[in-house]
Amino acid sequence: MFSSRLPDDLSENLLTRRARELRADGGELLDLTISNPTRTGFTYPEEEMRVAFARVADLAYDPQPRGLVVTREAIAGYYAEGAEGAEGGPLDPGSIHCTASSSEAYSMLFKLLCDPGDEICIPLPAYPLFAWLAGLDAITIRPYNLRLAPDGRWRIDMHSLDLAISDRTRAVIVVNPSNPAANYLRPDEFLQLDSLCARNRIALITDEVFWDFPLMDHSVAESGLASAADSTERGNLISRQRTVGIPGDALRFTINGLSKLLALPQMKLGWMLTEGPARLRDEALARLDVIADAYLSVSTPVMAAAPVLLALRAPIQEQIRIRCLRNLEAARMHFGSGRSGISLLQPEGGWSALLRLPDDADEEAIALRLLEDERVLVHPGYLFDFARGKFLALSLLGPADRFLRALEAIDRAWK
Ligand SMILES: Cc1ncc(COP(=O)(O)O)c(C=O)c1O
Repeated sequence: MFSSRLPDDLSENLLTRRARELRADGGELLDLTISNPTRTGFTYPEEEMRVAFARVADLAYDPQPRGLVVTREAIAGYYAEGAEGAEGGPLDPGSIHCTASSSEAYSMLFKLLCDPGDEICIPLPAYPLFAWLAGLDAITIRPYNLRLAPDGRWRIDMHSLDLAISDRTRAVIVVNPSNPAANYLRPDEFLQLDSLCARNRIALITDEVFWDFPLMDHSVAESGLASAADSTERGNLISRQRTVGIPGDALRFTINGLSKLLALPQMKLGWMLTEGPARLRDEALARLDVIADAYLSVSTPVMAAAPVLLALRAPIQEQIRIRCLRNLEAARMHFGSGRSGISLLQPEGGWSALLRLPDDADEEAIALRLLEDERVLVHPGYLFDFARGKFLALSLLGPADRFLRALEAIDRAWK
């Protein structure tokens, strides 16, 4: 009776079930899987936000497939802020489509680019979202690998990407910085991706939802909208390549939204930006209009509030960065040396970090033991499909005292 877009087995995995049962029994968990920033004690400029929503002056509806002009101008302004000296000039708000979320932007792009059964290349390890979204649009995912380089950073394995592309491939997804691998795209990787996608006549989709959360303190060499060639990599200094506003040969889409950028997933405002060779870009924009027009899913109040909301992002982002950096430092104190057999991989950006376990470790058994014995909930690496190696993923969002208690529990359980 039901579509095969959804799996037959909808049951929870053992870890999720046990966590739910323990919570139902009144047990308190130290949750290192937490991804909802509104439940982790950050303060938001609530009064200013309420005022922002009062900007809906009247109830006249102005349906626009790309979203309100004021909203798109504010989004273009967000990109312009990091763009002094850019070669591409200011972004055209006309190249932006507002969406209800990043996830919806993906779904619209799948509808734009794919017929049922067509393929999209996704990085592995990856947040499990892509497999679900692809399944719901009846498309197939083809994984390519991120490879852990000797410096402890993840790079795109271009060879595995080459092998993953078939004549049914319609796009390559890249997450910048990646989740959970937590590495920014490098300028040379961008150049290779752009030419690979152009050569194969497929699109490049970049997910920048964690872009504004570098975890390298101030040691980040921006390669904002400026030339890829300007970026350098020296010692501890990382160069991160933003794909917006740079000339290139491929059709490119960039996804972002308030869910992470403002740490307010419930606002339900995301967007995607379309760039690339003019003819292709304009055709894509016109077709996206048709898709967006069929749903018109973004609410007017949040679009009207967006210019003010975006301007309020700095204090929110700062709290999250400080929290994540502090928790990361605690994790480094515990596992930075790798003495215990567990080692911390230095993340470059995002809200999480990876602990590497010995290759023969049983991730699920360890996660279950942590839950049963220590009431600590972590994500075992297999949820993200690492090609090689064993990992635990830790959310860095939680309050520092709880994070520290969880680290001590992991230490104890491991010993
Ligand atoms: C890399 C990445 N992209 C997109 C999303 C989904 O974001 P949204 O809430 O805007 O749909 C997530 C969710 O965690 C994510 O990790």
